[in-house]
Order: sequence, then structure tokens, then C-alpha cells
Amino acid sequence: MMHGALENITQAVGNTPIVKLNRVTEGLASEIYVKCEFLNPGGSHKDRLAANLLRRAEEQGLRPGGTIIEATSGNTGASLALLAAVRGYKCIFVMPDKMSQEKIANLRAFGAKVIVCPTAVEPDDPRSYYVVSRKLAEETPNSFYANQYHNPANPEAHYLSSAPEIWAQTNGDFGAFVAGMGTGGTISGCGKYFKEKNPKIQIVGVDPVGSLYYDFVKTGRVTKAFSYKVEGIGEDFFPSTMNLKILDEIVRVDDKECFLMTRDLTRLEGLFVGGSGGAAVAGAIKYARGLTKPMKILVFLCDAGQKYVSKIFNDEWMRENGFFDDDPGHGIVRDMMGWRDKQKLVSVRANAKVREVIDLLKSQAISQIPVVEGGKLLGIVSEVSLLRCLVKGEKTLDSSIDDLMESDYATVTPDTKIDLLKGVLEGAPVAIVAEDGVPVGIVTKIDLIDYVARAEKSVARENRPSSHCVA
Ligand SMILES: Cc1ncc(COP(=O)(O)O)c(C=O)c1O
Repeated sequence: MMHGALENITQAVGNTPIVKLNRVTEGLASEIYVKCEFLNPGGSHKDRLAANLLRRAEEQGLRPGGTIIEATSGNTGASLALLAAVRGYKCIFVMPDKMSQEKIANLRAFGAKVIVCPTAVEPDDPRSYYVVSRKLAEETPNSFYANQYHNPANPEAHYLSSAPEIWAQTNGDFGAFVAGMGTGGTISGCGKYFKEKNPKIQIVGVDPVGSLYYDFVKTGRVTKAFSYKVEGIGEDFFPSTMNLKILDEIVRVDDKECFLMTRDLTRLEGLFVGGSGGAAVAGAIKYARGLTKPMKILVFLCDAGQKYVSKIFNDEWMRENGFFDDDPGHGIVRDMMGWRDKQKLVSVRANAKVREVIDLLKSQAISQIPVVEGGKLLGIVSEVSLLRCLVKGEKTLDSSIDDLMESDYATVTPDTKIDLLKGVLEGAPVAIVAEDGVPVGIVTKIDLIDYVARAEKSVARENRPSSHCVA
């Protein structure tokens, strides 16, 4: 064996550097440091997961020649494919169709089989990538279903590998740990370790607008998820690998913030990371701005930028999707709220009476009303649910509405693009607009139609030839 050489490439997993951010954090009192997981040989933090999953699978009897099957959005596949190549396993990966072509090609380069499934179906639909992968695992002999969304070996990987490594590198000299959340393996495993070492360390999750996590943590409600572009973080269901109780804080970011920060990290800091890295840093900066005392913040950067050159790093794609300020499209929800009504959001408290709510719905000519307590959104009450329980005799006009609250809404921020609202309102009857978790408005389909129609009319008026024109 040559002096200084590794036995094989899998031994190069881990020992990634921690680097200080300098330019994107200009003017910030807190210091932000990043853990460069994108420098792992398989291109992401999922190398650590793959190593631990295989260790556990081999303990349970999986032998070389067997098949590894996984529902993966790419990175876990890349890491499993790398380990499988070295250890002599076959791989089949099932992934949703919103994933980049580069990620699919990357897996096929390792000789893996890739099956692409539609994104726009419910997780329990027979076409969903979760269901297809589970069925394949049942039908393939000598196979191992990695099942990263429900395998305790996932958070365990970060508890045993990422977190102790960070602790040894830093001597625990940080006040907050910030990470994006997909399966939740990273934040749950690292969070557990850091809390055991020092319970004062703040565990901060970053969630994209459209995912379920944020609303659930803030309000306990399972609201309507909707699609977004950033890959690897956010979910439309709750994986059992995600321990939301470990979080001290959750921060929400939208696609545009994620992608502009991803590009800045590359151009200003030399860190060629993927969109979830931009998301995590954008979230960390938001978190830092809300602190009363400066802190050292450690951010986990998951994957590398190469896979996103045709998207995030492609100006045309960024412009087409409205992520540049020079293309406002129909504008943002804040513009719409300013146009629509300057009055305060009409809401009720959880102990309001059915009679009171009916009167409000009638006087305001609305069909649903948010329930807000101490500035926090608790749910909504709709005329449909009031009608149902009155007709069935389950409630009287003097009953309180507290158990009539529903989660049949999506939440957006004032900065959400109006062009995105169409998709949001296809899956939910209303969108509640919340700023830093505080509800400030409500948007229905007819509001959106009305706003877009007015905008079209005013463009048509501006383009109409003046009567003074000479033909
Ligand atoms: C690019 C990227 N970022 C972040 C994550 C989230 O990591 P975790 O699943 O450990 O929560 C993933 C996971 O799929 C990912 O692929």
C-alpha cells in the first residue's frame, strides 16, 4: 500500500472544511461559517448517509451482487451509486420528474438504472416515486430498500458522523446550527448531538415557501403544500426521519432568495453550491438579522453547483422563471395587497361564537375567515364547515368555533410572486399571506383573477394609440 493513499474513494467521505463567509454577510453583526459538504466525493452530505445505510444493510445480511433501491431526488442516489460501485452492488433509483437532467445523467454514469415518476401526484398515488420504489423493493430478490425518509440510519448518519466532526473542528464554538430540511436527517441527527453537548445551541431549520414544515412548526396545522423549484429541501408529507421537536426556530425562504444567494455564494465567496446551500445561507442571514446579540452561526451546505448549471447558473432559465428583478412578471403579493385593500385583515379569535362569524362573513361578503390569536394564525373557518355543522345540529349559533378550524389553505409571503399564486390556488381554496409568521392578508381565486384582469386592462390602455396620432 502506497504511503498516504486511501484504500478506496469511500474513505474520502467527510473531513470537509468549515469556511467563514465574508462578502455576502457584509454589514451583519453575527459571523456566518459554512460546512462544505458539497466537497464530499459523491458531491454532497448524502455520502455520509449512504455509508451508514449500507453499513446497517450489510449488518442485516445484504451481500455484494445485491440491489440497492431508493426513492431519491438525486444526491442520495449519487452517494449510494458511488459506494455501490466500490462494493459491488447494483442500483435502481426512482426519482420525481422535476429533478435536473444533470442529476439523472450523473446516476446513469455510475451504471445505475433510473426510473422517472411524475411530481404532480399525491405521495400515495401508485405513480408517485415513493410508491413505485417501495413496490420495486418488494419485488426484487436480494434487494435493500434504502428508504431514507423512514430509515433511522439516516439521522443516525449525521449523529455519528457530521455532528461529531463539526464539534471536533469547532470545539463547539457556535451559537446556532442552520440547515435546510428534506428528509430531516441532517438537522435531526446533528441537532440531537449538539443539544446533548450544549442545550443552548439553537437549531434552526430552513424551509422553502410551498413546503409543509414551516406552517406545521408555527401553527401545528398541516396546510396545503405547493410546488417550488429549489431541490432537496421542503416536503409535502412528514418523513419519520424528521424530528421537528429539535428545532428552536424555523425560517422560510422563497425560490428567488435561494437562487440569488446561491449565485452570490459562488461569485462572491467562491463556493460553488446548489440551491439548498443558497437557501440555508439566505435563511441564516434572516435568522441573524432577528438576533438581539451577535452570534457565530454554522450553516450546513449540502451539494455542489455543477448539477444546476442549466438552471440556477443559467441567466435565461433564471429570467424565464422570473427570478431576476428586471422581469417582475405580474409583480408580488405585496403589490396586490396594496392594490386590493389597505384595511386590516379581518380575522376572529378561537373563542368566537358561530353567530359572530356568520355575521362577519355576511357583512364582509367573504366565504372564509382566518382565526388569529396573539398575532398567530391558528387555522381558518369557512362558510362550508359552518353550514355543515349547523345543518347536522352539531353546533348552535352560541357554540364556539374553536373545533371548526380547518387547514384547507396554503400560506405565502408578501414577496411571493403573483405568477406563482395560480399554482398555489389550484391546490388550495385560499392563500393566507403571512409576514414573519404574522397573517396580514388573504387571497382567493377571484382576487387573483380580478388583479390580473385589471393589470391586463391597464397595459392595454397604455398601448392604445393616442387620438392625436396621425395614421
Ligand atoms: C441538495 C440537498 N439539500 C438539502 C437536503 C436536505 O437534507 P436532509 O435530507 O438531511 O434533510 C437534501 C436532501 O435530499 C439535498 O439533496
